[in-house]
Amino acid sequence: TRVAILGVPIDLGAGRRGVDMGPSAIRYAGLSRRLHDLGHHVVDFGNLATPMVETTPLPPPDARLRYLEPIAEVCQRLAELVSDIAAQAMLPLILGGDHSLAIGSASGSARGRRLGLIWIDAHADFNDETTTPSGNIHGMPLAVLTGRGHLRLTGLAGKTPAFDPARVVLIAVRDLDPLEREALRTSAITVFTMHEIDRRGMAAVMEQALTIATRGTDGFHLSFDLDVVDPREAPGVGTPVSGGISAREAHLAMELIAESGALRSLDIVEVNPILDERNATAELAVELALSALGKRIL
Ligand code: ARG
Ligand code: MN
Ligand code: MN
Ligand code: MN
Repeated sequence: TRVAILGVPIDLGAGRRGVDMGPSAIRYAGLSRRLHDLGHHVVDFGNLATPMVETTPLPPPDARLRYLEPIAEVCQRLAELVSDIAAQAMLPLILGGDHSLAIGSASGSARGRRLGLIWIDAHADFNDETTTPSGNIHGMPLAVLTGRGHLRLTGLAGKTPAFDPARVVLIAVRDLDPLEREALRTSAITVFTMHEIDRRGMAAVMEQALTIATRGTDGFHLSFDLDVVDPREAPGVGTPVSGGISAREAHLAMELIAESGALRSLDIVEVNPILDERNATAELAVELALSALGKRIL
């Protein structure tokens, strides 16, 4: 496969600093070389230009959409680039950065084709400006991608939402805000919480998830938030939640995704090097990307 790496060093969507350094940490862990050794043709497009907190006007303390305009502008350029890359028959691999970037990457990848969406995350990122407790846009991308949220963000996909909720699957969720939970319960998104994973096992859950995301589609986009992995194994994330999936379960999910042959693009987001332990979380991110792109033990 021709893999196109693209970094998006943004942390304006998160509540704390540091995930803007994620792309560097993941590259430092050997992503490009290891993908090449796996047999892929790798092109690193470098980083998208992104505004930083220090040079961006501070949002008011009560903002319900913190840094809306700079984030929307980044997502707009990102969507263009990802759609161009996909049109050249390359598989976009987007390095974050906070999860707000998925508004651009996933909608760009879905441009001109019908994609499913697999969202692997401790959170649902299903808030909008009326349900968010924080005002942080990284808690909103899944809502935006399925058509709910501020028009400046939902409008990036054009007139119709980037993804049909019936082709969207959330995996390993364990932390929902009260109003976000209600919105999720009434949506057509399929949700596999930690409960389902513990009860049925990751393999069974992924099998069903892949069926949903691939039925009647041209493949799917994967958005992988490192905070889905238990903080003991992935300490370098901004919003850790205990009781997460193991690195082994995460690998199994990625291997089944690779086996499906339907992966069209992926995000690896929310790696926070400031909070990490000797780059362990970035190294895990690389290992997981390799599994998603075909690495096998034997
Ligand atoms: N639900 C919380 C919020 O809306 C946390 C979101 C965390 N999102 C993430 N991509 N890590 O602020
Ligand atoms: Mn090569
Ligand atoms: Mn998360
Ligand atoms: Mn997330």
